[in-house]
Amino acid sequence: MAGPRALSLRPPWEGRKVVLGVTGGIAAYKAVQVARDLTRLGALVDVVLTRSAEEFVRPLSFEGVTGRSVLTSLWSAEGSARHLTLAGEADLVLVAPATADFLARASQGRGDDLLTTLLLATRAPVLLAPAMNDRMWSHPQTVRNAHHCREVLGYRLVGPRDGPLAAGEGAGPGRMLEPDELVEWSGRLLGAVSPWSSIQVLVTAGPTREPLDAVRYVGNRSSGRMGFAVAREAWLRGSEVTLVTGPSALPDPVGVTVRRVETAREMRDAVMEVAPRANLSVFAAAVADFRPQDPSREKQKRKDTGSEWAIRLVENPDVAGESRSVRPPGSVAVGFALETGELISRAREKLEAKGFDLIVANDAGEEGAGFDVTTNRVTLLDREGGAEALPLMGKEEVARVILDRVESHLPSTSNGDDS
Ligand code: CTP
Repeated sequence: MAGPRALSLRPPWEGRKVVLGVTGGIAAYKAVQVARDLTRLGALVDVVLTRSAEEFVRPLSFEGVTGRSVLTSLWSAEGSARHLTLAGEADLVLVAPATADFLARASQGRGDDLLTTLLLATRAPVLLAPAMNDRMWSHPQTVRNAHHCREVLGYRLVGPRDGPLAAGEGAGPGRMLEPDELVEWSGRLLGAVSPWSSIQVLVTAGPTREPLDAVRYVGNRSSGRMGFAVAREAWLRGSEVTLVTGPSALPDPVGVTVRRVETAREMRDAVMEVAPRANLSVFAAAVADFRPQDPSREKQKRKDTGSEWAIRLVENPDVAGESRSVRPPGSVAVGFALETGELISRAREKLEAKGFDLIVANDAGEEGAGFDVTTNRVTLLDREGGAEALPLMGKEEVARVILDRVESHLPSTSNGDDS
């Protein structure tokens, strides 16, 4: 692995120029939150409202959250002067909500207002968040327009999804993605870089639960945070990511394929299925090494148990170790080692035994590190004998550093989608 480098902690949004186009639908009110969240993350957000969007939401709301003036008309001095500059400087154009009428105009290449003109003039990635009545979304005209935007123009369409629509309009597909999801998608389009955008990543996370009886289990305090952070970060960089996780209260990271499992054996089965296609595998799960030998299907009764309940534990599969046989040649594997002593030497043994290229070692006794906390203090050990002790940092930052360190070892030429 590469030697110590400056930590790259810059999130994809910071200092990036985002044009947020808002068209006239009920979901326009949610665009205010998108503008606010992108601004809070450090993006410079220029909002363009169509005429009908102004019927739903006022420019002032956006100016209040972005601190920048809002463009509404091509026919104002400001609009005609700025729209081409904005189109040229944008790192991303996001249209949320994108109405049926907007999709029709965009797919025809019309330039009849500021937003469509800007779309023709920009070469930045374009992200559309359609929102409309479900019958409008399924109309053949809209289907054709959406297809054209996607396949011919290369725009990324996210949603709509099923869910409650405007008052009394049922719950078919038509609902815009939520603001936080659109922010994540924006991050992916801003952050996608080679080689990440052409690779597949597998991450394991969380604890496993090994049943004792119908209601009890043997488990541990792992929250899943570290693995979820790695999965999210790889997705933001453009990878196709599968997260195999034991029980965790965390929500699915946006865009990531999540397989939720309970036991070590279920985790092993899922990993053996996914690992053959993974260019990078990161094993962050705290897998139970042993499981109760004969879990009872019924709830174990106190009166039947007596004053002692002796449980016999048998060995569980070593998920990371077993995956060695199916990981493709040239792929990269990262493991974790949580130790209570002799951190470096024990972690090095695991690096060798499980065929990792990098191992992330942390001391279970350290304050602010390990299970069920949002921070971690880790040492990265690589195959070449390198050791890099990182300061206490958030698990999201640790995830970024881990991915930065493996980047130069990833294949850079395979085919893949870049979003
Ligand atoms: N691991 C795994 N399956 C297991 C045990 C561990 O995939 N049954 C993975 C973990 O996700 C981690 C690495 O192996 O990446 C090391 O995990 P750790 O629990 O520290 O190691 P063990 O092999 O279980 O060794 P021990 O518990 O004896 O320290």
